[in-house]
Amino acid sequence: MSSPLRLGIAGLGTVGIGVIKIVQKHAGLLAKRTGREITITAVSARDRMKNRDADISAYRWEDDPMAVAMADDVDLYVELVGGDNGIASDSIKAALRAGKDVVTANKALLAMHGQELAELAESLGRVIRFEAAVAGGIPVIKTMTESLAGNSTTRVMGVMNGTCNYILTRMESAGLPYEAVFEEARQLGYLEADPNLDVGGIDAGHKLAILSSIAFGTRVNFDAVEIEGIERVSIDDINRASDMGYRIKLLGIAQMTPRGLEQRMSPCLVPADSPLGQLAGGTNMIVVEGDSVGQIVLRGAGAGEGPTASAVMSDIVDIARGIRLPVFGQPATGLKPAQPARTAVPASYYMRLELQDKPGALAKVASVLGEAGISIDRMRQYGHSSDSSVPVLVVTHKTTPEAIDFAIEALPRTGVLVSDPVELRIEEV
Ligand SMILES: NC(=O)c1ccc[n+]([C@@H]2O[C@H](COP(=O)([O-])OP(=O)(O)OC[C@H]3O[C@@H](n4cnc5c(N)ncnc54)[C@H](OP(=O)(O)O)[C@@H]3O)[C@@H](O)[C@H]2O)c1
Repeated sequence: MSSPLRLGIAGLGTVGIGVIKIVQKHAGLLAKRTGREITITAVSARDRMKNRDADISAYRWEDDPMAVAMADDVDLYVELVGGDNGIASDSIKAALRAGKDVVTANKALLAMHGQELAELAESLGRVIRFEAAVAGGIPVIKTMTESLAGNSTTRVMGVMNGTCNYILTRMESAGLPYEAVFEEARQLGYLEADPNLDVGGIDAGHKLAILSSIAFGTRVNFDAVEIEGIERVSIDDINRASDMGYRIKLLGIAQMTPRGLEQRMSPCLVPADSPLGQLAGGTNMIVVEGDSVGQIVLRGAGAGEGPTASAVMSDIVDIARGIRLPVFGQPATGLKPAQPARTAVPASYYMRLELQDKPGALAKVASVLGEAGISIDRMRQYGHSSDSSVPVLVVTHKTTPEAIDFAIEALPRTGVLVSDPVELRIEEV
């Protein structure tokens, strides 16, 4: 058997403790599968006295992750502290410079500084692996960098934040407004310390930026992701969309167009009977489309101790086996900056309009849509609501975002709307 692979782990929270449990529970299995023992030498976290859900007494404690990153008796540095800067970044760089490979689950750091870290690692002949950074337990990084390496990727999309999917599906199943379910999610501990990372679409945007880079061979560019969270999704829209055969999902989509790379994270309607439409609760789904393979759908737990630690372990096992790949699937210096493009691909749109109950109101709406060049596929008028306004739903034929923007701006000027119009894109999935 080859020499052991000695891990140094910084961060003993949900993911770090999960990794330690797997290393302890499956020591024999891991040794058989890799041909070498996987051991833990040193660990670090903030509070040495904290009760941890695993026995860490056999490992050397370091107060400072830098000491783990640079220790002579550590071969592989596992960064599970988090944060897009500070100690996570500093310790990863220190580990690389000290000749160690790195495994991390840190999507924020990779989305913001992935290019710089990849160039540093590759210039030093080291690897950085990050399967757990996107969609938790779903092996999407490996699928895209290895299993689909013979494809030119045409589109990658998916539901990448389990908390948002939980909130949206719970609103629908319980008929509750956004604010009530947001509070429930907070009490269940599903939200990040800064909830805007979840419901504002930022966490999912980080993941989409990483997937885009791998899919299209471009430099990761989080700043170019158009991001909108789920805060404006109302229970009315969820119910009305359902009447029309759709569900609302926080959907990330990246596709290369002749104008450049479109990257968008936003609430969209998808057919209720599609795989994405059927995705309930905290589960994630990633859909990858390649020119030869067609469409691949990956589904599984996007977060949590077991699933995320499972993904971290797959990276550790690959390194133990001697599998060494460029960080983003091709050498970092060859990754091109992509021309960012705003979404322009035509799509159908859902519009919800609350109209005054007076003759000719609908005709005025139809006239504005006509002026915008938007043709109507389906329209449904509901009975009077309590304030005697009339809810009207419109599903358009395919049209451009510009035409929709024009209509949304012009509609209030008709004088027949009692509240701002709502529009949501309908994605073909
Ligand atoms: N949780 C998930 O489901 C999940 C899924 C995918 C990816 N990730 C990523 O995995 C990483 C870890 O997430 P987590 O959920 O395990 O976080 P967590 O539960 O908050 O744990 C963070 C750990 O880092 C330690 N830490 C924080 N600041 C430190 C410092 N300055 N020096 C030393 N240790 C420090 C904390 O120490 P104390 O315990 O002493 O406070 C804690 O053990 C993050 O990058 C996250 O985005 C998490």
